[in-house]
Amino acid sequence: MTLHVVAHPLVAHYLTRLRDRDTTPDEFREASDKIITLLLYEATRDLGTRDFRVDTPLETTLGHAIGDRVVAVPILRAGLGLVGPVLELLPHVTVGYIGLERDERTAIASRYYVKLPPDIANKAVMILDPMLATGGTATKAVAIMKEYHPASVRLVCVVAAPEGIQALQAAHPDVQIFTAAQDRELNAQKYILPGLGDYGDRLFGT
Ligand code: URA
Repeated sequence: MTLHVVAHPLVAHYLTRLRDRDTTPDEFREASDKIITLLLYEATRDLGTRDFRVDTPLETTLGHAIGDRVVAVPILRAGLGLVGPVLELLPHVTVGYIGLERDERTAIASRYYVKLPPDIANKAVMILDPMLATGGTATKAVAIMKEYHPASVRLVCVVAAPEGIQALQAAHPDVQIFTAAQDRELNAQKYILPGLGDYGDRLFGT
């Protein structure tokens, strides 16, 4: 199973704050940071740890540090809003950026900006894109990252549409998806229903 819908009262609470049309951009950013932190708890569950001895004030015991190296890859523009909580929790990550634009006629996503850290091979790639709608962008982003032979690729999103989940799983069955909700469907304009509107607009007040 590659789809993880994180069921937790705190996730449900902050998702509702994000969905509410009356939530202001500053409140939206705060709820976004919190829900991403909660999703990261699940999205990092399988990371390997390095074991070592640590001295407490009283004795020596076994300690653990995150051993796997992680590359966070926000998809421009809305994914930028997800980087903060990742850096808070995993200060050692490196960060790459992918910008994709969709051809309105063919609906095919193509890259207009890719800036990645030098060594991605054998690292865990975490793609950050809050809304998995048609799956076109996520599928393309995963394909770009796979050119660099990472150890694994996972997607952290806030809301996922069935259409996007199906498209991503069909193209990349090895990719794990972590989300707060699987929503009902896309509308004619490819917005997720019930959704929360345009994540980037709500995050940045545009
Ligand atoms: N992107 C968004 O920001 N919202 C949607 O509903 C779909 C794609």
